[in-house]
Amino acid sequence: MPSLISSLATALLLVSGICAIPQGPSGAESGIVSAVSAASVSTAGVAVSQATTASPSTSNAASGISACNNSPLLCDRAYNNVTHMGAHDSSFLRDASTSDSLAGNQYFNATVALDAGIRLLQAQVHDVNGTLQLCHTSCSLLDAGPLQDWLAKIKFWMDNNPNEVVTILLVNSDNKLVSDYAAVFEGSGISTYGYQLSNGSSASNTWPTLGDMITSNKRLVTFIASIDYSPTYPYLLSEFDHVFETAYNVLSLSGFNCTLDRPKGQGSAGDAISAGLMPLMNHFADSLLLQGVQIPDETDIDITNSPDTSTTGNLGLHADTCVKQWGVKPTFILVDFFDHGPAIDTADRLNGITATGRKSVSGESKGNTSGAGENHSPMGMNVALIAFVVFALAMV
Ligand SMILES: *[C@@H]1O[C@H](CO)[C@@H](O)[C@H](O)[C@H]1NC(C)=O
Ligand SMILES: *[C@@H]1O[C@H](CO)[C@@H](O)[C@H](O)[C@H]1NC(C)=O
Ligand SMILES: *[C@@H]1O[C@H](CO)[C@@H](O)[C@H](O)[C@H]1NC(C)=O
Ligand SMILES: *[C@@H]1O[C@H](CO)[C@@H](O)[C@H](O)[C@H]1NC(C)=O
Ligand SMILES: *[C@@H]1O[C@H](CO)[C@@H](O)[C@H](O)[C@H]1NC(C)=O
Ligand SMILES: *[C@@H]1O[C@H](CO)[C@@H](O)[C@H](O)[C@H]1NC(C)=O
Repeated sequence: MPSLISSLATALLLVSGICAIPQGPSGAESGIVSAVSAASVSTAGVAVSQATTASPSTSNAASGISACNNSPLLCDRAYNNVTHMGAHDSSFLRDASTSDSLAGNQYFNATVALDAGIRLLQAQVHDVNGTLQLCHTSCSLLDAGPLQDWLAKIKFWMDNNPNEVVTILLVNSDNKLVSDYAAVFEGSGISTYGYQLSNGSSASNTWPTLGDMITSNKRLVTFIASIDYSPTYPYLLSEFDHVFETAYNVLSLSGFNCTLDRPKGQGSAGDAISAGLMPLMNHFADSLLLQGVQIPDETDIDITNSPDTSTTGNLGLHADTCVKQWGVKPTFILVDFFDHGPAIDTADRLNGITATGRKSVSGESKGNTSGAGENHSPMGMNVALIAFVVFALAMV
């Protein structure tokens, strides 16, 4: 019991000090699984009206496409030769819709992220009585609703932004079949945009240009971790046939490196690149709250997401280090709280572009503890705190 009490004290101390958030892995290996009781967190995105939409970020002139993914320079660039900036756990929000759940990794939802230039959306999928559901670590911790509803909102954005290539990366936490995913991709309508490789189980060095994908209107690339590719659903790719990742369980700002973490079947990053796999650079730091409980290091987020190359932990520095080691740019980068940095600046620099047609993230400056931006309801914080402490104790 003393250890339980001291754990509770530690949890409360750390949570109040750093606004801690439980952290799920980016990949298929789930280190944290827990049942959290009562302390309910409201479901995000139920019956959301889609009245407001982004104005198309580019104009599709009759003579051709004027810009692809926010720059004319990217139209002739191959998909795998572009750095796609990504939001880690993009469906798991810390905002009013979740009563500022401490389980959220992002302040803004996927639609806002797309408007702001994010082109890779990552999330975790669980099986809830046969429905594919977006849940963070456990559905009792943070349930962001059915995958199909979320995909429909992304499709809606793509309908209105015809010159944009989007990538989705899903973690298949409950090892559902590729046919289960196909059903929701078709149900949401987004499969209509699904790009198909000629041989989807084989890594490819010859991806089309963004312009080609936009012209053919096959401009959604989907990777799912731990599924078996099926030629019946050729637009659903098995992540580790095509992508390798750096470590995601980084516990200090000096812990970022460019070493291959997954798939284990590739010996090194160099081997993976030679085999045609595209690099994904995970760039988010966690703190260890209790044994087995990792939480995002939100305190350092402005260092972590900074485009600078001067300070240990900077996104810009990590990216440059990997470019040097690999001889190629990271094709994908994942960050928490993408609006900080802003993270997209690093992708723009690697891509050599000055972007057009984005909407800057508006509203309160969330996560900015130095200003008047903090606007969390005390009630919401309490519910989230209780949820978190219960979660932490369940892990002891
Ligand atoms: C994000 O929020 C806006 C405003 O509520 C909503 O219109 C949009 O559908 C949401 N997008 C997602 C992916 O939830
Ligand atoms: C990637 O794009 C850059 C910038 O256009 C270009 O210089 C480089 O040759 C391309 N690399 C490959 C492998 O096509
Ligand atoms: C799943 O189904 C069981 C049995 O029908 C039911 O008791 C339970 O509430 C359901 N869970 C959810 C999350 O819908
Ligand atoms: C597809 O790729 C796999 C894995 O590299 C290979 O075994 C298979 O022969 C390829 N199929 C075709 C039709 O090229
Ligand atoms: C790379 O970083 C990860 C996470 O910090 C660490 O576990 C791993 O040991 C590092 N690898 C090397 C070769 O430094
Ligand atoms: C934080 O908020 C303050 C006051 O509103 C503002 O001056 C500052 O630029 C903000 N910092 C960031 C990183 O948003």
